[in-house]
Amino acid sequence: MKVIVLGADGYLGWPLALRLSARGHEVVGVDNLFTRTTVENSGSSSAIPIPPPESRIEAARNIHGFDIKFIKEDITKPGFLRELIEKEKPDAVVDFAEQRSAPYSMKGENEKVHTIVNNLVGTIRLIEAVKSVDPSIHILKMGTMGEYGTPNFDIPESPFVQAIIGGKQDRIITPKKAGSIYHYSKVFDTYIFLFENEVSNITATDIMQGPVYGTRTSEIIHESLHTRFDFDETWGTVVNRFCVEAVIGTPLTPYGKGGQTRGFLSLEDSMEALTLLLENPPKPGEYRVANQFTEIYSIRQIADMVKNAAEALGLKVSIQQVENPRIEAEQHYYNPEIKLLPSLGFKPKRRMEDELKSMIKDLLPYKERISQYSHVILPKTKWRTKR
Ligand SMILES: NC(=O)c1ccc[n+]([C@@H]2O[C@H](COP(=O)([O-])OP(=O)(O)OC[C@H]3O[C@@H](n4cnc5c(N)ncnc54)[C@H](O)[C@@H]3O)[C@@H](O)[C@H]2O)c1
Repeated sequence: MKVIVLGADGYLGWPLALRLSARGHEVVGVDNLFTRTTVENSGSSSAIPIPPPESRIEAARNIHGFDIKFIKEDITKPGFLRELIEKEKPDAVVDFAEQRSAPYSMKGENEKVHTIVNNLVGTIRLIEAVKSVDPSIHILKMGTMGEYGTPNFDIPESPFVQAIIGGKQDRIITPKKAGSIYHYSKVFDTYIFLFENEVSNITATDIMQGPVYGTRTSEIIHESLHTRFDFDETWGTVVNRFCVEAVIGTPLTPYGKGGQTRGFLSLEDSMEALTLLLENPPKPGEYRVANQFTEIYSIRQIADMVKNAAEALGLKVSIQQVENPRIEAEQHYYNPEIKLLPSLGFKPKRRMEDELKSMIKDLLPYKERISQYSHVILPKTKWRTKR
């Protein structure tokens, strides 16, 4: 299979380029290096240093014999994706190339505009490019479990649900209630996919993925192959952030009561799930939803697990609740359905409890490097701006 991976320089994109190559697929990666440069320009950095894209590709060639093509380009550039898809004629396109930080999207007007424009223009350009070449090309679109929010009902894994409103029944789009401009950009992506599937028969898997944690996959076996690992208040996701806090000896900082509950999965399991979805595509013209996570935990439970894992490695760890900068429920019902991945044979390989130790071990050699950035960890970006 030939796969174009948009966002191939990112936390998930690089390991997926490696995994698909290991499975014998041909990979063309695209990235405009937005995350790399924006994280550095904001005064932070990947906890684990990552070589430039060309060096990582060279390392993948030398270590694994993989031949990954890479193009540095912005996918929103008019005509770019159309020409690329026309030239490469891929079987599938994976779309990771979006501004993916919720706090970044809440910093101010410019960041809100950038998030919406970058993410939605990229989505439209990709759909139009695929439509013009061959609508049966499978688009694997990365959304987020955050599109649903935390409703007081079971979250179905389906684009539509039956609802009774004012005594009348109809099929409606599965309700969404996102928690940031970033998450709303993903909701709008979903609406665009649903609409374009109806009018143009595009073929797509819309993945609602929970937060991913981890440093390793089966292919990341040398430091020259590492993927980025963000930990600051803007770019770091919660598990990765807690592991870094444990390593540098500052308290783990759950936001608010820490009862916020989400579905999580390891980097390895994310790669496994994505590969399964690519190798088992929908029928031409089908749009399907995949809820993607392996374990459900509250933030407080994760803090306790990171503390236990770090203490087992001889580190001293404390937990100190901080004021929640976000507007979100801190205690709530959470029960999402997950059936597509298990129906394809997906079996999670890593449990968070075990994976945390290996993450902390991978981070320990960079303790001094990370300590220089300790001032960027505590939350500064607030959802509600005070006047
Ligand atoms: N990491 C997670 O926990 C997680 C969870 C759920 C969903 N997601 C989604 O998965 C996708 C990948 O996430 P990630 O963690 O790897 O993020 P990332 O920021 O590390 O990777 C995204 C990549 O896309 C690139 N990019 C952004 N806009 C682009 C554009 N216009 N043209 C070309 N390249 C562009 C960035 O430079 C970056 O390298 C994102 O869409 C994110 O929203 C991630």
